[in-house]
Amino acid sequence: MHRSLLSAVSAVRPILAPQQVRFASHGLAVHRDTAKNNPKTPFTFSEENLKKIDSILNNYPEGHKAGALMPVLDLAQRQNGWLPISAMNEVARVLKVPRMRVYEVATFYTMYNREPVGKYFLQVCATTPCMLRGAETITETISKKLGIKGGETTKDGLFTLLEVECLGACVNAPMIQINDDYYEDLTPSDVEEIIDDLVAGKRPLPGPRSGRLASEPLTGLTSLTEEPKGPGFGLQAGL
Ligand code: FES
Repeated sequence: MHRSLLSAVSAVRPILAPQQVRFASHGLAVHRDTAKNNPKTPFTFSEENLKKIDSILNNYPEGHKAGALMPVLDLAQRQNGWLPISAMNEVARVLKVPRMRVYEVATFYTMYNREPVGKYFLQVCATTPCMLRGAETITETISKKLGIKGGETTKDGLFTLLEVECLGACVNAPMIQINDDYYEDLTPSDVEEIIDDLVAGKRPLPGPRSGRLASEPLTGLTSLTEEPKGPGFGLQAGL
């Protein structure tokens, strides 16, 4: 990035490498044993998940079972809520791969939570399109409503807040991811409503809050506005 542009952007928001963004407020990039996260932290796969692992492994030919690493890590996280090192070790045992292979993946991809997170994990996208459309206000609204900063969890264990890099829904900026759901085209009052619904035990409807279905223009379609002409039209017309 050009130096003058870099300093202009830095004045607005500190620029951190993705790993720093993730870990600056949410633990270390390396593992350190703690009372709740060490090789003796209890973890075994449930019977149901062992069956799912068998089925996942069937997708991979002999000699390439390690390809199942990411979905099996995901299963471990879904079962436990987060990924202690003991769960990573169990994944290594089940897949018969060296533990380091699992650590490499779990520490690289930010969707693996190596620290406990709340029941609702609020990931606010703060990359440029979302930032330009008010991501900072979204973060501030959540912080104020829940009394937590980035990387923190509410005392009741319900919510964890984290600022993350682009989540791939830029056309619907600003947006947040809550567990597996995307909430898009947000205003501060949308965010308050979403949190209120979650506290009340409801699942707010995911997707854009602006009334549009997906990522179509807010002011209506500007292309492909005619009725589709159907298959073979080009051939009939000699095109
Ligand atoms: S910049 Fe927010 S989803 Fe891409």
